[in-house]
Amino acid sequence: MSYQIALNFEDGVTRFIECRPEETVADASYRARINIPLDCRDGACGTCKSFCESGTYDSGFYIEEAMTEDEAAEGYILTCQMTPQSDCIIRIPATSDVAKTGVSSHAGQITAIDRMSETTTGFSVALDNRQALGFLPGQYVNILVPGTDQTRSYSFSSGPHAGEVYFLLRNTPTGALTTYLRDRARAGDRIEFNGPLGSFYLRAIQRPVLFLAGGTGLAPFLSMLEKVSNNGVGHPIHLIFGVTNDADLVKVDELEEYAKRLPNFTFTCCVAEEGSSYPNKGYVTRYIKPEHLNGGLVDIYLCGPPPMVDAVRKYLADQGITPMSFYFEKFSGTGVVSQIGEVHLQVGESDEAFDARMALELGAAQLLIGRLTPEQLGEYRRLAEATVPYVKSGHFTDVGAFRETNAAFHMFTIEATGNTTLAEAYRRLLVQEYMAQALTPSVDLAADIAKDHLDIVEAFERGDLNAARDLIVTHSDHAKATMRAGIEQAGSRK
Ligand code: FES
Repeated sequence: MSYQIALNFEDGVTRFIECRPEETVADASYRARINIPLDCRDGACGTCKSFCESGTYDSGFYIEEAMTEDEAAEGYILTCQMTPQSDCIIRIPATSDVAKTGVSSHAGQITAIDRMSETTTGFSVALDNRQALGFLPGQYVNILVPGTDQTRSYSFSSGPHAGEVYFLLRNTPTGALTTYLRDRARAGDRIEFNGPLGSFYLRAIQRPVLFLAGGTGLAPFLSMLEKVSNNGVGHPIHLIFGVTNDADLVKVDELEEYAKRLPNFTFTCCVAEEGSSYPNKGYVTRYIKPEHLNGGLVDIYLCGPPPMVDAVRKYLADQGITPMSFYFEKFSGTGVVSQIGEVHLQVGESDEAFDARMALELGAAQLLIGRLTPEQLGEYRRLAEATVPYVKSGHFTDVGAFRETNAAFHMFTIEATGNTTLAEAYRRLLVQEYMAQALTPSVDLAADIAKDHLDIVEAFERGDLNAARDLIVTHSDHAKATMRAGIEQAGSRK
């Protein structure tokens, strides 16, 4: 018996390893020739600290310097100590390159081409070595279009354990893969792909879940539903499947099957085109009900075209809802998939969000300087100091931990004002989400941004409003420049 461990690297590559009972993840990785970050192997240095997104495990032995109790409670683990007790998904804070591994290649034969409507085609592939392919439901692969040197990215719509893999495509007149499937493809053709890739995959279901699918963005959700139907689920899952025309409404029979098999699964379809004969007309946001959002205690997954992602974000902001998690994947009509928002995060969007944060913080400083109690100042300093360990020699040592401590630091003055309108506006900013998309440990920091935090606190302690204002503006410039470096780096990785 062994457990299947998904190692997700920062560049979107996922590698699966088999971990034996009582074996540490580090030992299993090295057995598989994947050199995840490691140093003391003794639970003492923290070099191997990673984040476990799902699964159960024994954390093993370690000292506080390597990992704090709070970190362990959040889900951080030391791979040199952790022994899995189930299949696990682990986020490794390094690129696959650093771990001397990379994306894997697979090949097989097309077994069927399914022209399901004038707008949508599906096809299935029997792989030469199905055992060698592991993937998380929601992930995608880069398919080499037969007879060309072009690749196109598509998500699996089959479940991770299905014998054959299946893909769903929107027909576009000039799309490379759709043209091949329309004009030349025959059952029996050889086809290759690289993957799995991407961080849009189903996490452990811990609360109600809302799936939002636009067009062939339905594919990853079919894969997720297959996984869920094998494992069962204790929380409600609602899917809203929005399409443009009636002809795009495919696979509804499969959704009906899942609704019969899974007591907690419900779904709604809608068609945007006005002339449609379908009863539900309009966009997905029209069919999001308050019970689906559960007051924000919900995990939202969205796969659809960029305007749909923007429309849903706006809808959530208008409703004053900040979901516990919001995972999205944007794709274009030609099937090119972007990892969670990376391709589409623009410097302008990021600058705007950080400018808005600065403006709110300047307002908070104006309201608070000279009015904070010694206890509040003590707390503010503690929050600033909490960010320090995660910045070293011009880089982040742990981006996830920095994001969390940084968010707590920045939120402090906003909440200390007691002004709910200000706090509400602050929560609507997408700063956290943008940071998650753009920042990695290899991004060059524009300055020591943790020291900026300490300097701002010092200005508050002195009651010096002018200095606090200047420091908040300078810090915002540093944050924007760091984000720019991250966005450019993400762009150059593609
Ligand atoms: S390698 Fe040092 S704590 Fe794991």
